[in-house]
Amino acid sequence: MSGELPRVAVLGAGKVGSALANLLTGAGYRVMVAASGAPEDFALVARVMMPDAVPAWAADAAEASDVVVLAIPLHRLPTVDPAVLDGKIVVDAMNYWQPVNGTLEEFEDGESGSSEIVQRALPGATVVKTFGHLTYHELEGDRRPPGAPGRRAVAVVGPSDAAEVVAVMVDRIGFDPVLRSRLELGRALQPGGPAFGTPMNRAELEAVLDRWEDESAPYAHRGEGPEPTEAGVAPSAPVGT
Ligand SMILES: NC(=O)c1ccc[n+]([C@@H]2O[C@H](COP(=O)([O-])OP(=O)(O)OC[C@H]3O[C@@H](n4cnc5c(N)ncnc54)[C@H](OP(=O)(O)O)[C@@H]3O)[C@@H](O)[C@H]2O)c1
Repeated sequence: MSGELPRVAVLGAGKVGSALANLLTGAGYRVMVAASGAPEDFALVARVMMPDAVPAWAADAAEASDVVVLAIPLHRLPTVDPAVLDGKIVVDAMNYWQPVNGTLEEFEDGESGSSEIVQRALPGATVVKTFGHLTYHELEGDRRPPGAPGRRAVAVVGPSDAAEVVAVMVDRIGFDPVLRSRLELGRALQPGGPAFGTPMNRAELEAVLDRWEDESAPYAHRGEGPEPTEAGVAPSAPVGT
């Protein structure tokens, strides 16, 4: 990866996957994108929605990439072969949202954050949680150039080396990355968490995560955030309002 941007695979060619594929190619990344089946099945959609991303089989996209973005429904995670993610930085953009995912017992008990469970399912990968606390509309519409007033912050939670690679992606597509190294803190980003669905600038998001981190472990689901919507994230006011 040294000296050039990492190669990215986006697994999921739906609302979030196509938004991220488009933003990442626009930011200079080489992106392969995959749905659950053959690339020719969504090639037309890809050409229209994310013209600079290359459609591929999921395993081929993952194998050819340094960073793999999971933008699939969480209940579909068992359909991804963990072996193809060994050694990869995996960006977890997924939320557990019962009306869409059905009841998934291990995500119901509140003992672990959803990204901690994803990490356990992908033992050879390094999971970084980000993007899931914004809607795909916000990913496309709230981005700003570096230094722009009201630039929205996006949390990037995971082991430092991997999180720093992902933070560059976040910055290049138009958000201020706020890094935290403990994956448990991803609970603050998921539905019901204080960073979920609420537009914040860097200082505001840092304060929220600091407060969350300062509170006593183990991190519990505290239900401080807005209620999730069907899209997985609550609607929110535009930056600056
Ligand atoms: N929608 C939002 O605003 C939003 C915001 C934040 C986070 N999220 C999270 O982002 C994830 C995706 O949400 P979405 O709204 O984009 O869903 P979506 O529009 O329903 O798209 C899901 C995509 O995942 C693909 N897929 C399923 N299994 C796959 C596999 N094994 N390999 C590769 N691709 C696979 C599907 O392909 P096929 O059609 O071929 O099955 C489809 O392209 C969810 O976990 C959601 O909670 C969503």
